[in-house]
Order: sequence, then C-alpha cells, then structure tokens
Amino acid sequence: MHYRQLGRTDWKVSDISFGAWAIGGAWGNVSDDESLAALRKAIDCGVNFIDTADVYGDGRSERLIAQLKKSEKREVVVATKAGRRLPRQTVEGYSRQNLTMWVEDSLRNLATDRVDLLQLHCPPTALYDRPEVFGILDDLAAAGKIHYYGVSVEKIEEALKAVEFPNVQTVQIIFNCFRQRPADEFLARAKEKRVGILARVPLASGLLTGKFHRDSSFAADDHRNFNRHGEAFDMGETFSGVDYNVGLEAVDEMRALVPAGVSMSQFALRWIVMFDAVTCAIPGGKRPEQVANNCRASDLPPLTAEAMTAVRRIYDKKIRSLVQDRW
Ligand SMILES: NC(=O)c1ccc[n+]([C@@H]2O[C@H](COP(=O)([O-])OP(=O)(O)OC[C@H]3O[C@@H](n4cnc5c(N)ncnc54)[C@H](OP(=O)(O)O)[C@@H]3O)[C@@H](O)[C@H]2O)c1
Repeated sequence: MHYRQLGRTDWKVSDISFGAWAIGGAWGNVSDDESLAALRKAIDCGVNFIDTADVYGDGRSERLIAQLKKSEKREVVVATKAGRRLPRQTVEGYSRQNLTMWVEDSLRNLATDRVDLLQLHCPPTALYDRPEVFGILDDLAAAGKIHYYGVSVEKIEEALKAVEFPNVQTVQIIFNCFRQRPADEFLARAKEKRVGILARVPLASGLLTGKFHRDSSFAADDHRNFNRHGEAFDMGETFSGVDYNVGLEAVDEMRALVPAGVSMSQFALRWIVMFDAVTCAIPGGKRPEQVANNCRASDLPPLTAEAMTAVRRIYDKKIRSLVQDRW
C-alpha cells in the first residue's frame, strides 16, 4: 500500500482507502459480520482512511466503524459527513443548530470525542456563497468537536468554489474512468491550493469491476435498482450517471486494456491514482475478498501511456456526452 499526504493536514493516507456506504445501507442486504470482516481486511491490507456518513444506514455505517476501532490499535482516520438528514436541501438547513446536532450524533455513533474530518454532504451550490457556514465549521473545530473539515460535491463548479475557503482541507468528488472532467478542470487547481481529493464512486457502483451483464439484477433496496434515473437522489451517484447498457459496452472495450493477472477493478483504481493530485480512491467493499482485490491496485506498476490514452478514447466516444456537461 502507498500513502499520500491529505491536503495540508498532517495525515498520510492510503491511496486506496475504504468507502463505507454499502456497509450502511441502500446496497441490498449486507450482514454486519461480513461488513466488519471487510473493514478488518481493509486495515490488514494497509488502509488507514475510511469514508462514511451519518445517513449511511442511519448511523449503522458509523457504528460499525466504531466497533472496528474498538478492537484496532492501528491509527485509522475516519471522515464522516453531515447535511443529508435535511428533509429538503436548503442553505438555511446548514444552520449552527443543525450542524452542531449532526456532529454530536456522529460523535456518539463513532464513539469518539472529535470527528477527524467532517464533510458537508453535497450541499446546494448556493451554500458556497455563504461564508458564514464555513465560519460555523471553524467554530466547531475551535471547540474541539472536529479536527478538520471538507466538502463532498456533485459538480466541478462547486469544487472550484470550495477550494477558495481557506480551511477546506478536502474535496470529495466522483472521479473515475467514466467521470474524467475533474482531470481537465479541477485537479490542477486543487493541487495548487493543496486541497486533498477523495475520488468517490471509483468503480462506477461496480460497473467498472467488469462483473455485470445486461441481465444482472439488483435487490429492490439497492440504489442500482431504484435510483438509475435519479428517483431518490442525484442520479450521478448510481453508475456515475452513465446509462447502464452504455456503461457495459464501454467496459467491454476496456477489457482489452487490462494486463494479464490484473482485475478490471484494479485497473480502474490504478487509473485514478495515476493522477498525483488525487489523495485516494475510496472504493466501497462489502466482502473481504473485494477489499483485498481492490487494495492490490495500490502496488500495481503505473498504467502505460497507451492504456491511459485508450481509456480517454473510450470515454470520449461513449461516455463523455452523457456526463461531461452535467457534473
Ligand atoms: N455524496 C457522497 O458524498 C457520496 C456518494 C456516493 C459514494 N460516496 C462514498 O464513496 C464510496 C465509494 O463509492 P460507492 O460505494 O458508491 O461505489 P463504488 O466504490 O464505485 O462501488 C462499490 C461497490 O462495487 C462492488 N465491488 C467493489 N469492489 C469489488 C470487487 N473487487 N469485485 C466485485 N465487486 C466489487 C460492491 O458492490 P456489489 O458487491 O453489491 O456489486 C461495492 O459495494 C462510498 O462507499 C462512500 O463512502 C459518497
């Protein structure tokens, strides 16, 4: 496992880290025992950074992480999020009272007295014109409730505004073989500002593992079933907003680029960490085998220039028109 400095913080985090949404909810049935085994495997593979949120399974994901940490001596940085408990996303909802209450809830779930990294959870674009919200986060840091803070964003425009706030340490954004616009319009700026980048949905919700087919089915409570067209939340969070069948065709073209002995997931993750502005990819994993497979991406040799160009060509030909102007 390789480690990278997280923005201007004093933390060095694993370039392949762990995304803990699927072990909370909205991804079909997952047992807590298996989730804990997946988390433990991640730590054994060298992962020292976990991304979660208060709303993943209504605190279930945070509580599992607390359970992990109870029996774990190695240092693990935990990033959680706040804001999605609002019934409707409004800037006014990000009030001092609400933020304080959400942080207190996360502290309880995580069984800790200070959140390592608190991220605003895809707030409305207008929030970036309200510096007082960031002032509240500064106050929570001064009070010792959070160590650092950052944001999770949907759009590049939000990411570019976020890095202008002096104490924003991280931006979490969808960046993968199917979502390449950050490489053109955001990574360089983040690097200049020394802001950490957490690349989320790195496997396009599993599409980029290469395991799905036209007739693959998903449980009724799996967002890959119920949110394909944004019925419940931003459709960009499901298969990166790419039409499922088009995604399958693009993955089929990518297969020829994957070197022998390397899995498609590893190839897709290695693609992300080819960009040195990225701090880490945060793949979700429900089972220890998945996690171990993904972590091996960190130690792969760099992808060839030909492979990088070919991935770009596939994106330009098949995917770009579906996503580039939206996010
Ligand atoms: N708004 C936000 O801030 C936001 C939104 C989305 C995600 N996130 C964060 O980003 C993290 C990652 O994104 P994500 O979980 O949505 O998507 P992802 O990492 O692209 O896909 C994860 C899913 O792919 C499958 N998978 C993973 N590794 C595999 C392997 N080696 N072989 C086969 N299947 C594998 C698993 O599901 P199956 O086994 O069921 O196929 C897993 O749950 C989340 O966990 C969360 O922490 C944040």
